[in-house]
Amino acid sequence: MTDEFGLLDTDVSAPPGDEWEQIDLTDTEADRIARKRDREFEAFQKRIKDADQFKVEQSVFDDATFGALYKLVADGHIDAFGGPISTGKEANVYEALGADSEVAVKVYRINASAFKQMRDYLEGDPRFEGIGNDKGKVVLAWVRKEYANLERAQRAGVRVPRPIAVERNVLVMELVGLVEKRARRLAEVSIENPETAYEVVREYMRRLYSAGLIHGDLSEYNMIIHDGELVVIDLGQAVTVHHPNSDEFLQRDCENVASFFRRQGLEVSTQELLTFLTDPEVDPTR
Ligand SMILES: Nc1ncnc2c1ncn2[C@@H]1O[C@H](COP(=O)(O)OP(=O)(O)O)[C@@H](O)[C@H]1O
Ligand SMILES: [Mg+2]
Repeated sequence: MTDEFGLLDTDVSAPPGDEWEQIDLTDTEADRIARKRDREFEAFQKRIKDADQFKVEQSVFDDATFGALYKLVADGHIDAFGGPISTGKEANVYEALGADSEVAVKVYRINASAFKQMRDYLEGDPRFEGIGNDKGKVVLAWVRKEYANLERAQRAGVRVPRPIAVERNVLVMELVGLVEKRARRLAEVSIENPETAYEVVREYMRRLYSAGLIHGDLSEYNMIIHDGELVVIDLGQAVTVHHPNSDEFLQRDCENVASFFRRQGLEVSTQELLTFLTDPEVDPTR
């Protein structure tokens, strides 16, 4: 194996995790905090609302989101907020200071328009049976799913941001890269050695698949390069292999990855990649 791009060594004896772990949706501590509105919470909310880095977003953060942030601070997962790293369709990502390292805080907006798409990914995932139509619940389930997916990917030997905490619509994870200098996406770096990068990506895809997960939105935009390491991010939509559309998602991931590396001058086909991931006869160490 190679050091470049930091392919993780893996302990093959480690089980990927419980296929059917249930995701607990009953915890509404953040809502309780927001409802109770004690003086300390009010002061916290005012402080955040006045902070420069949240100026743009304050109108889209609902009270329970402030409740979630408050809880994460109270639990010691967040010490201080930094600026935004990314403002996406469904979520904003901020840098922050955690208990003993820098963290990334991904805040999903409950009223995001992608709600219906979320439902399509959750429906058919055995971990979310009976989730229903409640918007808040769906987003909450989504964030829990992202957290659970990160844990599972990590156990499977895939380099992902280490998940730290999850509270309602807010996910705290390891910040990959420096505070002042955002880590680059694969799409933004020129890769000197695309063969090695491809081998690492393909091996991570295989490990994910062996652990029963399909990323579902894998492309050069959801992989970041930092310190010679390739890190797979954005696992919110990842589904288990039991999902009715899992084949379609896997096919699309393979197409995106193969086409990116073809543009880097490699001769790779979608089919070849698909076979590498799914065919138990393929020896991954070859
Ligand atoms: N753990 C992290 N460490 C460093 N940067 C991150 C991290 N998570 C996300 N980012 C940055 O935020 C961007 C958006 O995050 P992502 O999880 O892909 O959300 P989205 O659903 O908006 O695409 C990423 O492209 C990356 O630049
Ligand atoms: Mg993304």
